[in-house]
Amino acid sequence: MTARPVVVVTRRLPEPVHEALTREFDARLNPEDRPLTPDGLRDSLRNADALLTTVTDKVTADVLSVEPRRAGLVANFGVGFNNIDVDAAKARGIAVSNTPDVLTDATADLAITLLLMTARRTGEGERHLRGGQWTGWRPTHMLGTQVTGKTLGLVGMGRIARAVAQRAHHGFGMKVIFHDPYPPSAEVAAALGAEPRASLEEVLREADFVSLHCPATPETRHLMNRDRLALMRPEAFLVNTARGDVVDEAALVEALQAKRIAGAGLDVYEKEPQVTQALLAMDNVVLLPHLGSATQETRVAMGMRAFENLKLFFDGKPLRDRVV
Ligand code: 8YV
Repeated sequence: MTARPVVVVTRRLPEPVHEALTREFDARLNPEDRPLTPDGLRDSLRNADALLTTVTDKVTADVLSVEPRRAGLVANFGVGFNNIDVDAAKARGIAVSNTPDVLTDATADLAITLLLMTARRTGEGERHLRGGQWTGWRPTHMLGTQVTGKTLGLVGMGRIARAVAQRAHHGFGMKVIFHDPYPPSAEVAAALGAEPRASLEEVLREADFVSLHCPATPETRHLMNRDRLALMRPEAFLVNTARGDVVDEAALVEALQAKRIAGAGLDVYEKEPQVTQALLAMDNVVLLPHLGSATQETRVAMGMRAFENLKLFFDGKPLRDRVV
């Protein structure tokens, strides 16, 4: 019997995924769920045939430069792959794959969750009640902002943004506007009730809620900088389920402190798991710990999609989700 491919699985995954991986491969699991150090990643590249990585693994050019290297595939668990230097991987002939599609609904649901939570002050309300401060109902207590009928501005119009548009327009009767340098067809946009805008700036000026749905690339780093945040309306909210890098967190704090925007709902941060201290003290900000795809169903589906890519790779077939 020929030896089975060795796959290093960098984090603990849901059990059904572990079962599939161990059935098919010599899978080196991480039941204790300790993140790998750069040296741990280098060792894995040296000793395994493939790695199954997550957002917490910084697969840099330096890590990828290890010699001699055995691994030919980095199968990332997640649709985003900004944790991997894909140019360096490409230059070294290392394949990289991701897990699109299967997390679209879960992430769109979470964007809507943040939108509603910020608008309706639900985090603040829960803290208030649990803190024993609730003295009873009154007509002017903790008034939030109505969502139905408001304008949602989407930055990027890929899979997740479209699923958010669907929910916002058809579920909440919102007007949806968007900007994407690679927009969907007019028919696709119309079916979602979404209207294109020629520039990001137009979206920012017009929207009551701005939700970010672009990948983290060198071009989108700090896309939401001080100048662009200043274009938002003072009563508008920012929602980020994309990547922390897309927002200049210090500029966001400034905008919130100066009341240049009304609030923010964040699932991702520039230096995860660190969160800018000032945000923690703000009541008009909802902070979640990167939960976009965190449902049992979705995390299993993501793992199975990564598994599928690994299997195709070792069978010598084209990868379903090859990034480079
Ligand atoms: C994942 C995500 O939880 O898929 C993505 O891009 O941000 C999340 O859904 C994370 O990336 C896991 O590696």
